[in-house]
Amino acid sequence: MVDPVPQLESLPLAKGTSVLLRADFNVPLRDGKIEDDLRITASLPTITWLLERDCKIVACSHLGRPKGKVDPAYSLAPVAQRLGELLGADVALATGVADFASIGQVQELAAGRVMMLENLRFEPGEEANDPAFATNLSELGDVYVDDAFGAAHRAHASIVGPPHVMPSAAGRLLAREVEVLSALLDRPEQPFVVVLGGVKVSDKLGVIDALLDHCDQLLIGGAMAFTFLVAQGASVGDSLVEEHQVKHCLRLLETGKVLVPTDVVVTQEISADAAARHVAAQAIPDGWKGVDIGPETAGTYADVVAGAATVLWNGPMGIFELAPFAAGTRTVAEAVADCRGFTVVGGGDSAAAVREMGFAGRVDHVSTGGGAALELIELGDLPGLQALRK
Ligand code: 3PG
Ligand code: MG
Repeated sequence: MVDPVPQLESLPLAKGTSVLLRADFNVPLRDGKIEDDLRITASLPTITWLLERDCKIVACSHLGRPKGKVDPAYSLAPVAQRLGELLGADVALATGVADFASIGQVQELAAGRVMMLENLRFEPGEEANDPAFATNLSELGDVYVDDAFGAAHRAHASIVGPPHVMPSAAGRLLAREVEVLSALLDRPEQPFVVVLGGVKVSDKLGVIDALLDHCDQLLIGGAMAFTFLVAQGASVGDSLVEEHQVKHCLRLLETGKVLVPTDVVVTQEISADAAARHVAAQAIPDGWKGVDIGPETAGTYADVVAGAATVLWNGPMGIFELAPFAAGTRTVAEAVADCRGFTVVGGGDSAAAVREMGFAGRVDHVSTGGGAALELIELGDLPGLQALRK
C-alpha cells in the first residue's frame, strides 16, 4: 500500500489564488508537431477543477532532455498551443522559466486563466535540484499542485522543492495513477498476469522481482527475452544478450511463473523493408537477430491474457515501429483490449502502441508514466510522492 498524499480539497483556495502546477507535458514531438497528446488531455481534470474555483494556473513541465540550456527545439510552445485548443482559451507561454520577465508575465495573469512557463530543463537548477532555483519557482504561486506522474521518480527541483515551502497537493491524474498502480500490488484479482517487454533485462530486474511476489504469470517479450532464452540453453544468433544477467534469469525461470517465447521473428537488418523469417526461439541461426515474438508465442500469450482477472502490460514485444516486426505487439495489445479483467498498460512505448493501434479505449487504465510506474511498483514510493507528504 502506497502511503496517501494530500488531495486538491486540502488546499486553501480563493478566487485569484495562483497555483503553480507541475505537469508532465513531455510529449513525443516530430517536426514540431505533437504525435501523442495523452499527457496533455490527462491533465485536464485537474486544470478544469482549479479553473472552476477561479484560480490562476501557472503550469510548468520539462520536455525532452535539453540539459540545462535553452534550445528552441524543446520549447513548450506546441504544448501551450495544444492545451489552449483543448481548453478553448489562449494559454500564454512565458519567455523563460523563473526569470524576471516571466515573473512579470505571471503577475499579469487574470483569475480563471492559464499560462505556461518555458521548459524547466532549460535551467540547470531543475535537474540539479538547486534550492535557489526551487525558491524562484515557488514564488510564482501561492499553492503547488503536482500532477506530473510521469516525472514523479525524478528528484528534480520543480518536483521536490515547492512542497517544502508552500501548501501542496496531488492533482487528479497523479492521485489516480497511484491508486491504480498500488491496487495492483495490494489486492489484484487473480489470476494476475504481467506482460513485460523492453530492451534490457537489467533495467527491469528490480521490478520483475517485485512483481513475482504478486503475480501468477509473467510473460516475457522484447529483446530482453533473449537473455532468458540463453539461460534455457538456446542459440540466439546475433540477438541482444546481457551475459551478466543470465544467472539471474535462470533463477527467475525456476520460479515456474515466467513464460518466454517459443518462436520468434528474426532479421539480418533492422529496417522497414527488411526480409524477416520466423524460427524456433531455441535455434536462431547465426547472423540473424530476434526482433519480435513469433505467432505461436503471441497466440499463447493472448490465451493467457484472455484468462486473466488482472493484467499489467509494460513494454512492446518487438520493434513495433517497423511494420514487419509489429505483429507480436499487436496481438498482445488486442488480447489486453479484449480481456474482461482489469487491464493496465504502463507508460512509454506500450502506451503509444495501444493508442496507435486503436485499442486504448478498451484498456481500463493507460498510465502516463513509464519509468515512474515501474519504480512505484518496485519501490512502493516515489520522490514526488514523498515530497507531497512533507
Ligand atoms: C518520461 O517521459 O519518462 C518522463 O517525462 C521523465 O522524463 P525523463 O526520463 O527525461 O526524466
Ligand atoms: Mg524516460
